[in-house]
Amino acid sequence: MSRNDYVSFPPSTMLNPTPVVLVSCAEKGRPENRNMVTLAWAGTVNSEPPMVSVSIRKERYSHGLVLGSGEFVVNLVDEDMCRAVDFCGVRSGRDVDKAKETGLSYIPAEGMETAPAVAGAPVSLSCRVKQVIELGSHDMFIGEIVAVQVRKDLLDGTGKLRLDKARLVAYSHGLYQKLGSVMGFFGWSVAREEVLERRMSELK
Ligand SMILES: Cc1cc2nc3c(=O)[nH]c(=O)nc-3n(C[C@H](O)[C@H](O)[C@H](O)COP(=O)(O)O)c2cc1C
Repeated sequence: MSRNDYVSFPPSTMLNPTPVVLVSCAEKGRPENRNMVTLAWAGTVNSEPPMVSVSIRKERYSHGLVLGSGEFVVNLVDEDMCRAVDFCGVRSGRDVDKAKETGLSYIPAEGMETAPAVAGAPVSLSCRVKQVIELGSHDMFIGEIVAVQVRKDLLDGTGKLRLDKARLVAYSHGLYQKLGSVMGFFGWSVAREEVLERRMSELK
């Protein structure tokens, strides 16, 4: 292929796919006032300590809750939650009780004083805000992950997390997409043949 096989698009947020997550949060001092918001601008930003970023526009109801409480929970989402996830991304907690409207519910999140987790999420990351960076359209909240809750049915007999079985959903250029099947594992391109065979058969 050559440059002639490409057309130019205007500069845009074209790093796809992105995760799509439900961030749950609540009001400091009034933890019964809870909300969840769908975010696609979310990413891992550090390993030690483990940190993620979520970018939230100032006008979102969740923005004030996260800023005020200094906490948020990043909930990974699966195919069963996908319709509710979209709803939480097109309606504001200022106007509706998203839990009531979607049938989703909250459970306590380990390590959090205020923010809850979303029941049924495959994995929930409890985060404490470390830094807020105003970028323009969005404020980026950098959170340290202080606890991780994993749904028990995603552990295999040896206690290993099988996230590949979680039916996670990704977001790509305006569309929610299912993930396909496993192609390989970290380092598979250089793994010895017997390791490759064993690991790949374990992943079936
Ligand atoms: C797939 C999807 C991804 C979204 N990603 C973001 C995001 O990264 N940051 C943001 O501020 N809003 C994002 N939104 C919009 C908010 O989810 C939406 O405005 C929501 O209604 C805000 O809810 P709240 O007012 O209860 O906080 C996204 C919406 C959808 C559907």
